[in-house]
Amino acid sequence: MYTSAASERNKQPILNVMQPMLPEAGLIFEVASGGGQHVAFFAQHNPGLQWQPTEIDQRLHASIRARAAGLDNVHPPLALDVRAPWPQIKANGVIVANMFHIAPIETVRGFFHGAASVLVAGGFVQVYGPFRPSAHSAHMSEGNERFDQNLQAQNPAWGIRCLDDVMHQAEEAGLVQPKVTPMPANNLMLHWRLA
Ligand SMILES: C[S@@+](CC[C@H](N)C(=O)[O-])C[C@H]1O[C@@H](n2cnc3c(N)ncnc32)[C@H](O)[C@@H]1O
Repeated sequence: MYTSAASERNKQPILNVMQPMLPEAGLIFEVASGGGQHVAFFAQHNPGLQWQPTEIDQRLHASIRARAAGLDNVHPPLALDVRAPWPQIKANGVIVANMFHIAPIETVRGFFHGAASVLVAGGFVQVYGPFRPSAHSAHMSEGNERFDQNLQAQNPAWGIRCLDDVMHQAEEAGLVQPKVTPMPANNLMLHWRLA
């Protein structure tokens, strides 16, 4: 099983913010499930909901299956590149953590358009990660600034995304009622609903 130390730290704070938004029944669609730590934890705490993990890197699917072993409300993982067509599924919520900065900028547009294509009316979108307020503003912390520099050194297509660009992409995809919640370690939780 693949384990991310950051996901172990942030899974409870993410659940705390997400919990009041969850419906009593329905399907929650997770993008970029990684090794499956988040989806298994969220599903354990919400047995009345169905959970659909997805991960572009199919080498991680075995880890997702292992994390979800014994949880009959977690569906087998799907391979999803957010820039490609999304599956014909109807979801009540679409969630993603820590993807926008470790993927090319086109994934942000792909994520929102894909999310809007699978969501039922009134469904929610939740995005967790580090953001910069705008291209002209300072980073939220020195740590975020160093992290951004490291990301761009690893891959020039990566980097912490600007909140105003992300908000614009979400609006273009038809998402409304934006909400921003500060999270530990200078991260943010972004939240919308489909009109
Ligand atoms: C830092 S990991 C985060 C994994 C997990 N969400 C977590 O918080 O532990 C970044 C994730 O983005 C995914 N990713 C990168 N490019 C992608 C794309 N084009 N479409 C979908 N997922 C992508 C990677 O496969 C990886 O799972």
